[in-house]
Amino acid sequence: LIGFGLALLLGYALGSIPFGFLLAKAGGAGDVRTIGSGNIGATNVLRTGRKGLAAATLLLDAGKGALAVWLGHRFGGETLAGVAGLGAFIGHLYSVWLRFRGGKGVATLLGISLALLPLAGLAFALAWVGAALVTRISSLGGMAGGFAAAIAAFALGQPWSGALLLIMAIWVLWTHRENIARLRSGTEPRIGRKAA
Ligand code: G3P
Repeated sequence: LIGFGLALLLGYALGSIPFGFLLAKAGGAGDVRTIGSGNIGATNVLRTGRKGLAAATLLLDAGKGALAVWLGHRFGGETLAGVAGLGAFIGHLYSVWLRFRGGKGVATLLGISLALLPLAGLAFALAWVGAALVTRISSLGGMAGGFAAAIAAFALGQPWSGALLLIMAIWVLWTHRENIARLRSGTEPRIGRKAA
């Protein structure tokens, strides 16, 4: 139980680093929370027009999720790897540094999936890129990615990872509730459109 709590906490500590917010600020793009959707993720950093900052946000947000899983695995094995990943996901969504607000969890969940089960991560990436390419809507891709990863994990005979990924995929629907409302009203913006 102590290991469980420590893994969750370690994951949380890593996940709560708000890279998108920090990079936008350090890069002179301002407070990303006042731009576009107000999210701190790579998609919204891209709306500042700064592609490099957006790419770095994607990499670092995914990287912190992957690192949490890797550390959990290193010190606690299979079970704690998933728990540390869940901690990172929660840290990203409810960051102590942003008054327990945060991002929507897509890039972090991609990193978690890749580190937990590379094939599940690959399924995530394919679903995300595929949906985003076809529709040019990032939120749709992100939501599809989480479910693709969970399904892949179950298909690979990994029910523990699959269950955790499924919980996070459903959680991602919740973080995208405003996106879903915009999708339904046909007002969700396409990728690459700069914020007004
Ligand atoms: O990763 C978040 C993405 O799915 C949606 O971002 O800024 O369009 O709400 P945004």
